[in-house]
Amino acid sequence: MPSSFWRIIFVHSCIITGFCCYFNPDGNPNIPAIAKYFTTKGRYEEVNPYLIEDILAVNTSILQPPSAQCRQIHLTAIIRHGTRYPTSKNVKKMQKLYDLVKSSASGRDHWLREIQSQWRMWYTEDMDGRLVQKGVNDHKHLAVRLSKLFPSLVSEEKLRGGFIKFITSSKHRCVNSTLSFKAGLTELWGITDQEFDHSVNDALMRFFDQCTRFVEEVDNNPSALSEVDKFRQGPEMRRVTEKIADRLRVPYSDINDDMAEAAFYLCAYEFAIKTVNSPWCWLFDEVDAKVMEYANDLKQFWKRAYGYDINSKSSCILFHDAFSRLNKAASENRSGQQVTEAVTVQVGHAETILPLLTLMGFFKDSDALNSTNYATQAQRSFRTSRMLPYAANLLLVLYDCGGGDLRLQPLLNEKPVTFPGLTSQQASMPLYEDVKDNYRELLQGCDFETECQLFKSPA
Ligand SMILES: *[C@@H]1O[C@H](CO)[C@@H](O)[C@H](O)[C@H]1NC(C)=O
Ligand SMILES: *[C@@H]1O[C@H](CO)[C@@H](O)[C@H](O)[C@H]1NC(C)=O
Ligand SMILES: *[C@@H]1O[C@H](CO)[C@@H](O)[C@H](O)[C@H]1NC(C)=O
Ligand SMILES: *[C@@H]1O[C@H](CO)[C@@H](O)[C@H](O)[C@H]1NC(C)=O
Repeated sequence: MPSSFWRIIFVHSCIITGFCCYFNPDGNPNIPAIAKYFTTKGRYEEVNPYLIEDILAVNTSILQPPSAQCRQIHLTAIIRHGTRYPTSKNVKKMQKLYDLVKSSASGRDHWLREIQSQWRMWYTEDMDGRLVQKGVNDHKHLAVRLSKLFPSLVSEEKLRGGFIKFITSSKHRCVNSTLSFKAGLTELWGITDQEFDHSVNDALMRFFDQCTRFVEEVDNNPSALSEVDKFRQGPEMRRVTEKIADRLRVPYSDINDDMAEAAFYLCAYEFAIKTVNSPWCWLFDEVDAKVMEYANDLKQFWKRAYGYDINSKSSCILFHDAFSRLNKAASENRSGQQVTEAVTVQVGHAETILPLLTLMGFFKDSDALNSTNYATQAQRSFRTSRMLPYAANLLLVLYDCGGGDLRLQPLLNEKPVTFPGLTSQQASMPLYEDVKDNYRELLQGCDFETECQLFKSPA
């Protein structure tokens, strides 16, 4: 649909309804205006909007190797599963809010009547986080785009030859994402006479469950998230819950932070799963959505990122695994052998990628996110909406630029990023040796077993 079409519809709906501000000012009324604040429940397309028009579009010129000689020799792709259903815990919260709105909300707004008379609570607890059809497509399409971005690596020849390796977390949504990624490639090349294995490896892809120190000190420790709790009881969140109560015309005491979260999830899930701008989205304006976004960023910050050192250290095992694959490819290429693992596709969770990004120093702001600095964090780089939508991916691409000149390019969600700490002119594609030098301490230490012991012996 050309965007001019949506613009006309948009303008007309504004004139007729006067509800302009709730639609996306960029034009498409099917996209909630708050869609870019959905944090880890966000659509990949919000991070790369050019995909809305063409889901298979790639721009190879973003790679910009320093010379025409450069050849891709290895790709490690660490990918989050695709769009999924809510977990049973969130379904319960959504059900509770729906029951309240159905029984107690008054008011004549069209969106409220729509929720009360037409909308059906179709989420059930047995959906339990499973991959949805949109999630299947997320991975199929990503596979096709990666084959266009890295044609010499993600190729039919390499796949058939066994040079592409697939590793996944055991969770059904990850296994099914892996199957979808493979299906994207086999359908692209019309391969029907061969099947491709994957291995399940939770030690690598769900390291967080196996890191005792993380489990005891953070995951199972309610006081570890005290900043999150304080923010959720604080003035910004209170204003959001009061505005929701006003819109529903229920007493303020009926809406707590959990209800606000459930409403936000309902808007986000209806959009991510069904691509609809649901009536639930009317419960938030952009100011509210930013507060909801911060509450979740704060949680990710303390539970998976810079909040506690062990959060990132729990990913030491994945960090070393990635560099050992890169080293192996580099040394095979150097010694004149064919690179045996041209591509490694590793499918996991937001909780897999975020600690690794943190360990490598990405998205570190000068101040920690906390319960009282919402306003001063407005320009923070730590934004899970941009970092970790469904099918988020960290790509590490190793190049040989001739004469033993190896380079490593990191991309997040198909966009080049620069390794923090590396500031040469070639920052987006630094020498592999410089990257290793940058992470020397981690490469020499960062031992999973040691870091994850509950009682660390003094060094
Ligand atoms: C592709 O990327 C290059 C480099 O970032 C940019 O200059 C160019 O405008 C992009 N092209 C398209 C069609 O987006
Ligand atoms: C995974 O995919 C298979 C086959 O495509 C399907 O039968 C199954 O229900 C899916 N499981 C989940 C948990 O999504
Ligand atoms: C090493 O990489 C370079 C650049 O792609 C390539 O020309 C060379 O053939 C590779 N060596 C082997 C043995 O694959
Ligand atoms: C929150 O961070 C700010 C700096 O951004 C600091 O001044 C303030 O003391 C912190 N508040 C808490 C509760 O830690």
